[in-house]
Amino acid sequence: MAYSSKTDYLFAPNILLFEMASLLNILGLCLWLFLTFQDSKRVVFSQNITRSILYINGSASIATTDENFICATLDWWPPEKCDYGTCSWGNSSLLNLDLSNKILLNAVKAFSPLKIRLGGTLEDKAIYQNADNPQPCNDFVNSIEMFGFTEGCLPMSRWDKLNNFFKLAGAEVIFSLNALYERSIDSGNNAIGPWNSSNAEYLIRYTVRKKYNIYGWELGNELSGIGVGASVAVDQYASDIINLQKIVQNVYRDFKIKPLILGPGGFFDAGWFSKFISESSNSLQVVTHHIYNLGPGVDDHLIDKILDPSYLDGGSQPFINLQQILKSSGTSTKAWVGEAGGAYNSGRNLVTNTFVFSFWYLDQLGMSSSYDTKTYCRQTLTGGNYGLLNTTTFVPNPDYYSALLWHRLMGRNVLATNLTAIQKLRAYAHCSKHSPGITVLLINLDANTTVQVGVAVQKAIVSNNTSITPMQFQSRKWKFSFHRSMREEYHLTPKDGYIQSQTMLLNGKVLAVDSSGTIPPLEPKRVKASDPITVAPFSIVFVQIPYFNVPACK
Ligand SMILES: *[C@@H]1O[C@H](CO)[C@@H](O)[C@H](O)[C@H]1NC(C)=O
Ligand SMILES: *[C@@H]1O[C@H](CO)[C@@H](O)[C@H](O)[C@H]1NC(C)=O
Ligand SMILES: *[C@@H]1O[C@H](CO)[C@@H](O)[C@H](O)[C@H]1NC(C)=O
Ligand SMILES: *[C@@H]1O[C@H](CO)[C@@H](O)[C@H](O)[C@H]1NC(C)=O
Ligand SMILES: *[C@@H]1O[C@H](CO)[C@@H](O)[C@H](O)[C@H]1NC(C)=O
Ligand SMILES: *[C@@H]1O[C@H](CO)[C@@H](O)[C@H](O)[C@H]1NC(C)=O
Ligand SMILES: *[C@@H]1O[C@H](CO)[C@@H](O)[C@H](O)[C@H]1NC(C)=O
Ligand SMILES: *[C@@H]1O[C@H](CO)[C@@H](O)[C@H](O)[C@H]1NC(C)=O
Ligand SMILES: *[C@@H]1O[C@H](CO)[C@@H](O)[C@H](O)[C@H]1NC(C)=O
Repeated sequence: MAYSSKTDYLFAPNILLFEMASLLNILGLCLWLFLTFQDSKRVVFSQNITRSILYINGSASIATTDENFICATLDWWPPEKCDYGTCSWGNSSLLNLDLSNKILLNAVKAFSPLKIRLGGTLEDKAIYQNADNPQPCNDFVNSIEMFGFTEGCLPMSRWDKLNNFFKLAGAEVIFSLNALYERSIDSGNNAIGPWNSSNAEYLIRYTVRKKYNIYGWELGNELSGIGVGASVAVDQYASDIINLQKIVQNVYRDFKIKPLILGPGGFFDAGWFSKFISESSNSLQVVTHHIYNLGPGVDDHLIDKILDPSYLDGGSQPFINLQQILKSSGTSTKAWVGEAGGAYNSGRNLVTNTFVFSFWYLDQLGMSSSYDTKTYCRQTLTGGNYGLLNTTTFVPNPDYYSALLWHRLMGRNVLATNLTAIQKLRAYAHCSKHSPGITVLLINLDANTTVQVGVAVQKAIVSNNTSITPMQFQSRKWKFSFHRSMREEYHLTPKDGYIQSQTMLLNGKVLAVDSSGTIPPLEPKRVKASDPITVAPFSIVFVQIPYFNVPACK
């Protein structure tokens, strides 16, 4: 046992390694504990195995997410929506999704609750069927109009069925409203005049009358900044949000808990967003932005981007900037990712619905939560090439299980981490969700290198003002007492090591629904505290460590 020159570092000899972890449980130390290797330098002891130390600052959390951080979207795209000659939406639209499918129901139920955001490009051309003002209620059809489709209508009978499904599945629903209703668009693609809220108000009143629970009402889709297809000026948008909040306050006046108001559901643009947040502040509970940082689905280099750590790092910019804007404006508005499909124009088959996309997705979840994003909505639950569930069969794609593991393991409090040397390993840590201690997420983007990770935590709990000496660490008694501490590990790998596989293995076993559509249990393997965390090439590991008790997780 040797102290480093700095008194707050403790280096363990190899033999004790991870066993010291267990000391924290009982005694706790006001130290950085190196539960790891002989020294803190990266040691390469064979061509393919590398060691790394993961530092976790347990003093205080750096951010907090919602209890239910995971969210997925359902969109409006009809089967005729095609990109680059491929039509990937099938019957996954709000208007035609098969709500009687057992896998679909079980997949949503498994989260209890899953947040579901209902929206997307065509929402702004949606009309809600109004019994007081009967009009034909027709589907969206191909046209040369904006977004390539005509207006489409949501029958109230369909809204009833959707709500029955959401209730049965225990979902928390965020509905995004038609911001372009009855609005004309000038030749510069700018919406003219204020939002006509009459049709939305009709839907909200109908929804309340039917006692359907709505978690949040959002206004508009990708109309902020320069907009996609059309745009709404920032002053106008802020006043439309204030109007929506007034309507909701009025319709829900007898409700203790009222739905959240969200917007603008667009791409982050610092100038536009900061103006929007300040002008609508008291009326806007959640500022939503969309993430498609990998470019178009047709791009042949999507996988190269996903496997490039500096490309992934570049994705942190909107989170950092938005967090700064919210901090400096002193508002209570929170940030959500309202829609994130990674690759736009419906994603890409055999990339955004395969194992490799979990590298991007889980990295986004880790990164966004560390900048205080409260909820992250994945495009899509089903539909396009980026569904958590296969668009035709509803069989879960790898990202479904990644989302479910995150949801079950990662608690609200986010801890700061850093890693030594290893460039292609990514790490995130949160307090555990339903158990003591912390949970770590490790993502290995390297094809050939196995990484053995040692964990160093600052700072362990001081539950007793006494401290232990290095000599005590070395004693047989300590080693013996803490020998039995265990942690739980979930190792995710692609079938046959093929990262474009749609089948994921958990601890070496295929994850699959059975013939009755049951979502498989996600079973960890138990690992001795004295063993290092071994992260295989091209794999993802969640580690639930109960023996690290830190102040941030009290
Ligand atoms: C750990 O977090 C605490 C509280 O935020 C901070 O004061 C301290 O400097 C951090 N430690 C390191 C090594 O960054
Ligand atoms: C969608 O559903 C309709 C009606 O059930 C069916 O005829 C059609 O084949 C389905 N389309 C696709 C792409 O699955
Ligand atoms: C909003 O739209 C409704 C339905 O088309 C129309 O009756 C009403 O006049 C419009 N309101 C305004 C202020 O334009
Ligand atoms: C959905 O599953 C079917 C059957 O396994 C498969 O052929 C198809 O490629 C999958 N579709 C997508 C978009 O992943
Ligand atoms: C990680 O944290 C340790 C402990 O505070 C510090 O010595 C080291 O410089 C940090 N490394 C990076 C890359 O931030
Ligand atoms: C080790 O790396 C080499 C190439 O660098 C690769 O061919 C081999 O499969 C790797 N072995 C393991 C066990 O990962
Ligand atoms: C790593 O593995 C990949 C595929 O498994 C192989 O093509 C590549 O040559 C290896 N890289 C190195 C540096 O050995
Ligand atoms: C630890 O010491 C501090 C200051 O001496 C004292 O206030 C506190 O009560 C002590 N805590 C325990 C658990 O003994
Ligand atoms: C605190 O430390 C003392 C001295 O090592 C020990 O005798 C005592 O049992 C400890 N108390 C607790 C509550 O751990």
